Amino acid sequence: MAYPTQKLLVALALLGGGLSVASAAQAESLAATAVALCAGCHGADGNSVATAFPKLAGQQKKYLLRELMDFKSGKRASEIMAPVMATLSENDLTELAVYYARQKPAPGVVGDPALLALGKDLYLKGNSKTDVPSCESCHDETGNGDGKFPRVAGQHVDYTLDQFRLYAAGKRTNGARVMQAVAERMSEQEARAVAEYMASMP
Ligand code: HEC
Ligand code: HEC
Repeated sequence: MAYPTQKLLVALALLGGGLSVASAAQAESLAATAVALCAGCHGADGNSVATAFPKLAGQQKKYLLRELMDFKSGKRASEIMAPVMATLSENDLTELAVYYARQKPAPGVVGDPALLALGKDLYLKGNSKTDVPSCESCHDETGNGDGKFPRVAGQHVDYTLDQFRLYAAGKRTNGARVMQAVAERMSEQEARAVAEYMASMP
C-alpha cells in the first residue's frame, strides 16, 4: 500500500536510483551493485532518512532474507518492493541480507517523549485486559530481535505505524499470525506509544 507522501518519495528516490544503478554497473562486487539499487530509499548503509522506508541496518539476517524472498514471490505484497526484487536472484538476496545485517544502526528519532512510559510498559508487559502479549518475549528486551524475530529498536515511527495498519487490515500475512492479533488489539494510542518506545531503543 502506498500513501501519497510515500508515492512522492518513491518517485524522487527512483530518479536518484537510476543514476546510481548506471554508475554501479562498473562496480565489481555484486553486493555493491545491488546496494546501489536500494540506497535511494534505504540509505547506503541501511539507515534510511525518509521515515516511510524501513531502516535495515543491524536487522536480523534470517528475517531480512525471508522478507526479501517473500517480496520476490509476492507473499509479502508491496508494489514498491516487488519490482526491485524482480531482477535479483536468491544469491543476490542472501548477499544483501548479510550486508545489511552487518551495518551499524543509527539511533532512532522520538517524536513524542510523553508516550515513552506507556510504550515501555506495553512493550515489556503487554496489556492483559485486551490480551496484547508482551513484545519482549519475541523481539527481546533490547528490541534487537533474534533470527526470524525482527529487530525493532531504532526503527522509524512512521514505518512501524504503517506496518501495524497493514497487519490489522490483514494485508501483511507472510509471517506469524500473532502480529495481526497484536495490531488489531492495540488502541491507536498504544500503537503510537509502543512505536515511539521502540524508536527510542538504542
Ligand atoms: C523505491 C523505494 C525502495 C527501493 C528502491 C527499495 N526499497 Fe525496500 N522497502 C521500501 C518500502 C516502502 C518498504 C516497506 C514495504 C511495505 O511493507 O509496505 C520496503 C521494505 C523493505 C524491507 C522489509 C524491512 C522490514 O523491516 O520488514 C526490506 C528487507 C527491504 N525493503 C530491502 C530492500 C533492498 C535490499 C532493496 C534493494 C535491492 C530495496 N529494499 C529497495 C522501499 C524501497
Ligand atoms: C509470539 C512472538 C511475537 C510477539 C509476542 C510479538 N511479535 Fe512482533 N513480530 C513477530 C514476528 C515473527 C515478526 C516478523 C514478521 C511477521 O512474522 O509478520 C514480527 C514483526 C513485527 C513488526 C514488523 C517489523 C518490521 O521490520 O517490519 C513490528 C513493528 C512488531 N513485530 C512489533 C511488535 C510489538 C509492538 C509487539 C508487542 C505489542 C510484538 N511485535 C509482539 C513476533 C512477535
